[in-house]
Amino acid sequence: MSDFSIDRRGLLVGAAAAPVLVAAVTPPAGAQPPPGRDPSAAASTPDQQRRMKWWHDAKFGMFIHFGLYAAHGRHEWSMENEAIPVAEYQKFTDRFNPAPGTPRRWAQLAKAAGMKYMVLTSKHHEGFCNWDTKLTNYNSVNYGPRRDVIKEFVEAARAEGLRVGFYYSLMDWHHPDGARCETDPVARRRFVDYTHGLIRELMTNYGKIDVLWYDVSWPLDAQGWESEKMNQIVFGLQPDIIVNNRNRLAGDFSTPEQTIKAETGGRAWESCMTLNDSWGYQKADDNWKDPRTVIRNLLTCARDGGNYLLNIGPQPDGGIPPESVRILTAAGEWVRRHGDTIYGADICQPHTSQYAAFTRKGSTLYMHVYFWPAGGDVAISGLKQKVLSAKILKTGTALQVSQDGFRTHITGLPETAPDSPLTTLVIECDGVPEQDTLNVRINKPRLKVGI
Ligand code: GLC
Repeated sequence: MSDFSIDRRGLLVGAAAAPVLVAAVTPPAGAQPPPGRDPSAAASTPDQQRRMKWWHDAKFGMFIHFGLYAAHGRHEWSMENEAIPVAEYQKFTDRFNPAPGTPRRWAQLAKAAGMKYMVLTSKHHEGFCNWDTKLTNYNSVNYGPRRDVIKEFVEAARAEGLRVGFYYSLMDWHHPDGARCETDPVARRRFVDYTHGLIRELMTNYGKIDVLWYDVSWPLDAQGWESEKMNQIVFGLQPDIIVNNRNRLAGDFSTPEQTIKAETGGRAWESCMTLNDSWGYQKADDNWKDPRTVIRNLLTCARDGGNYLLNIGPQPDGGIPPESVRILTAAGEWVRRHGDTIYGADICQPHTSQYAAFTRKGSTLYMHVYFWPAGGDVAISGLKQKVLSAKILKTGTALQVSQDGFRTHITGLPETAPDSPLTTLVIECDGVPEQDTLNVRINKPRLKVGI
C-alpha cells in the first residue's frame, strides 16, 4: 500500500520529449487555431460554432464527481481541508470500489433526467486517476476497483446516446511536484510533462471525446502550464472537442460555479452546480435542492443562452445517493415532457415575473408558471409583441388574451395548476417576444389629478 509512486517515465520525461509532443499534435490541414489565444475575444468563431452546435442545443448535462473522496464521504476537499496525510488518504483506495455497471446507471439516470451529456472527474485535486494511465500507478486499475473507470464511463454514456466529457484537475495534492512546480523549474518541467501526458492519454485512448473540463490551475499560470500547447495537444487529437476556460485560457466556454450568470458578447457559458452542497459524496449533506428548483435553474440557463451542468456525487460503491435519484427522476419527468421548450431554445429577453420563468423558440414564448396564482389569470408586463394565441401546453386548452399596450392579460386558466411542478403556457407572438418593464413604469397612466 505504501508503493504509490509516479512511474519512472512520469518523473524522467523531460525536455527531450517535448519536440515529439509538438510534432504529434500538428493540427489537421484547415483546422482553426485552438481557442484561447485572445481571452478577450467573446464572439464565437465559425469553428467554435461548428464544434459547439450540439452543446448549445443540449442545454443540460450531468457532472459526476467520483474519486477516493467518495470512500471518505466528507466532500472532495477533505484531503486538504482536514489536512489528511497522503499515506492515510491513500488507504481510501481499499473502500473505493464501484460495482461493475455503475457508470451505466449514472448514464441511465442522466438520460431519465433529460440530460444530453456527462462529464466525469478523471482526476480530481486528490491526484488519483480513474483510468489505466501509464504515467502513475496511483490509478483505478492498480487500486480500488482495479478497472478502468473512464473506459466504463465512456462506454456507458455512448450506450445511452449521451455525449462524453472528462473533468481534469490541474492542481494535484498527491504528485510530488504538485506544489513545488511553482518555484522549482525542474519540478515544473516534470509536472507539466506529466500533466500534458495524462491529458494526451485521455484524448488518445477512449475514442471521440466531446468535452474537456479543466479545473483549478493553482499554482501555475497559463505560461507555466503551457496551456497553449496543452490545448494544441487536445485539438490535435480531438478536432471536434470543446474545452472550458480553467486552464487560464479563454477556451470555448466560461464556467460560472454554483451561480447562474450569463456571459456577455455572445460568449458561451455553462453554469455548474451541486444538487446539495458537495460535489463529491458527503454522506451527511442533506441540503438538497428540490425538483422545482432544478427545473427553474435549467430554464434560467436556457433563457439566457447557457447550459446547466448538474452534479451527482456517487457513493464509494458507485451507487447514486437515493435523494439524487429521486430529485433528478422527478425533474427529468417534467424536463423530458417539455423538451421542445428547452433543447435548442433561443435566448429569451422576457424575464420579469414573480411566478413564472420564460424560454423562447423563434416567436413562441413559453411561460413556465412555478407558483400557480389563484384567480384564473396570469399577466405579463410590458410585452411588446401582439399575442396571436395562448394555450396550456399540457392540456391544449386555449386561453383568452387581452393586451392594452402595457399588460398582456391571459385568462381562462383553471383554479388549480394543471401540471406539476410547473405549468407551461405556449404564447405565440407576432415577432420575437421582448419585454419593456421600464416603459410600463414610466408610461402606464397614473392616477389622474382630482380622482
Ligand atoms: C471547484 C472545486 C471542485 C469542483 C469544481 C467544480 O473548483 O475545487 O471541488 O470540482 O469546483 O466546478
